[in-house]
Amino acid sequence: MGEALPPANPAVIPIADLRARTHVPRVSATPRPATGVLTDALGRPLRDLRISVTDRCNFRCSYCMPKEVFDRDYAFLPQASLLSFEEITRVARVFAGHGVKKLRLTGGEPLLRRHLEVLVGMLADLRGADGEPLDLTLTTNGSLLKKKARALADAGLKRVTVSLDALDDAIFQAMNDVGFPVGDVLAGIEAALDAGLGPVKVNMVVKRGTNDGEIVPMARWFREHYGGAVVLRFIEYMDVGETNGWRMDHVLPSREVIERIANVWPLEPIGHSAPGETAERWRYLDGGGEVGVISSVTQAFCRDCNRARLSTEGQLYLCLFATHGHDLRHLLRDTDASDAQIGGALADIWAQRRDRYSELRAAGQAYAPGGRKVEMHYIGG
Ligand code: GTP
Ligand code: 5AD
Ligand code: SF4
Ligand code: SF4
Repeated sequence: MGEALPPANPAVIPIADLRARTHVPRVSATPRPATGVLTDALGRPLRDLRISVTDRCNFRCSYCMPKEVFDRDYAFLPQASLLSFEEITRVARVFAGHGVKKLRLTGGEPLLRRHLEVLVGMLADLRGADGEPLDLTLTTNGSLLKKKARALADAGLKRVTVSLDALDDAIFQAMNDVGFPVGDVLAGIEAALDAGLGPVKVNMVVKRGTNDGEIVPMARWFREHYGGAVVLRFIEYMDVGETNGWRMDHVLPSREVIERIANVWPLEPIGHSAPGETAERWRYLDGGGEVGVISSVTQAFCRDCNRARLSTEGQLYLCLFATHGHDLRHLLRDTDASDAQIGGALADIWAQRRDRYSELRAAGQAYAPGGRKVEMHYIGG
């Protein structure tokens, strides 16, 4: 008998496991004309494409890229694996023909991708199936926004969403885990507003016991300084990926977030502004603007989910919690598939989509047992 293996250390996750396995789609034999609408197996249209442009980030938020896993030895994607701007634009053009109306650039931290404004310019020229320009936006941690907001706006970016988890420096620096100061993110938000990228949305992930004491101070700050020009949204801490050690008792239900704010400034619901939107919106009765809550854990919104995600290396994911991607890069690089054939493959993939992870979680049902969920920094939020 050979020597017994030492017990696996659960804190050490093999790198190969962090990126979910892929499924290479067959090129559709019959190129599919773009009809401007694709419907999945649960009747949901495809409207929103989130494009991750880098898997790197200069923050180490414990709920997304914990330092113990994403340390100096972590192997990020090599440059050659990344989709080029031309490849991204080609995919986006095909998707737009099939009904996508909104593009969101994400990461990792998207502003770490060099010359991102060039990509923004290329995407800004695209048109949807209805001939209208696409809604072109970006999610950022704000650290480089002061430097880049003007160039992004000039290139055609319409608006930005900035993540900020606390106003208190000690809490924020502990959460981003690289000691990044709040003031620099606030300066980024200011620069975005000056550049015409408003209304700016600010996303705060709420982790009970860590930053829930910041809910009211954050609400106060953005009401008093910006009124309706900044929309603050509170996100329930989610069990994305496999590395953040998520626990249900760290989730503060959005209902409580709204109660805490409404105790200080009364609120009324204004519902969703578009079908499939993630946030439920609330308005201050005194005219101080609005806040939103994104309640993927306590009130799943899969029923209308119209979002697809393209990873940095060209894998298409049909759910934030997916365990498998579909290898579009293979079609782009290794075959001579036409746009119509790529559109055909996309139509086939979307037609079979049944993903509804958050609903299944809420119902206590298992999801892809044995599979490893993809990490958020790899497919974007
Ligand atoms: P806009 O309102 O148009 O700006 O878009 P959005 O609400 O989709 O914005 P954003 O990308 O900022 O999404 C907000 C957050 O909601 C993300 O950062 C995620 O944390 C979460 N989220 C977005 N899409 C999904 C989704 O499909 N499923 C789940 N469970 N969470 C999502
Ligand atoms: N739960 C909820 N939100 C998360 N984000 C990243 N990881 C999580 C998580 N586990 C948020 C980021 C950012 C957006 C891209 O997603 O803070 O606002
Ligand atoms: Fe970076 Fe955003 Fe993940 Fe934080 S949540 S580590 S800022 S990608
Ligand atoms: Fe869409 Fe999956 Fe999120 Fe449900 S859990 S809303 S299907 S991305």
